[in-house]
Amino acid sequence: MPLRKVPLPRILLDNVSCMRNAQQILRHVNVSVHDGGALVLMGSNGSGKTTFLRMLAGFSKPSAGQILWNGHDITNSGVFQQYKLQLNWLSLKDAIQDRFNVLENILWFELLEGKQGKSLPALELMGLGRLAKEKTRMLSMGQRKRLQLARLLAIDRPIWLMDEPSVALDDEGVKLLEYIIAEHRKQGGIVFVATHLPIKIEDAMYLRLPPRFPRRMTLVDMLDRADIT
Ligand SMILES: Nc1ncnc2c1ncn2[C@@H]1O[C@H](COP(=O)(O)OP(=O)(O)O)[C@@H](O)[C@H]1O
Ligand SMILES: [Mg+2]
Repeated sequence: MPLRKVPLPRILLDNVSCMRNAQQILRHVNVSVHDGGALVLMGSNGSGKTTFLRMLAGFSKPSAGQILWNGHDITNSGVFQQYKLQLNWLSLKDAIQDRFNVLENILWFELLEGKQGKSLPALELMGLGRLAKEKTRMLSMGQRKRLQLARLLAIDRPIWLMDEPSVALDDEGVKLLEYIIAEHRKQGGIVFVATHLPIKIEDAMYLRLPPRFPRRMTLVDMLDRADIT
């Protein structure tokens, strides 16, 4: 009987190590993420969750190992040009422009993306429909987070990198977050979620990062770095 061909994971962390501020955040991590997959990074403040997301976004390189997208190393500049167009980044910096109203803050990104028609439905889904024409300085922290999530929906890219997405959301907001993550995954999207708060994500893989404390580089760290090629 012929063997069934196993599909290539969309994203493969192949023996990845990651440094920040002279400290090893991750050591030799191997994870395969297929379409519809979710990886949740847990850990206390300072454990390296944001650092890990930044590495997935290509802002920093693994200190060892490779991140492969469709089997190609994302640090290869030709690959990265394609890979970065797959990413949708939700960070603690909300990139909300106060000179635009609530709706314009999404339309602007949607326009850049060459898409249309998703901004208002996304705002409505996130419970901000009635505030579409308001100035963004009228929004509470939780509403700003909802606006960020609506923008994520309107931009509609396959790989979501979410840094503490539930922070500032009320209970209903967290439920909406869980819902949009589940829907995105049903359509084959991938999510990486860094969070120190519990978020319900079905069949997710979990990576718990140990606590870290800032310190200077030691000789051991330097020797550790010698395996970087
Ligand atoms: N801009 C920076 N420069 C140097 N070190 C940093 C910087 N940001 C964070 N770090 C250090 O990297 C480690 C991981 O931080 P971070 O990834 O932000 O953690 P988390 O997101 O889990 O709270 C911490 O020890 C922190 O002190
Ligand atoms: Mg963080």
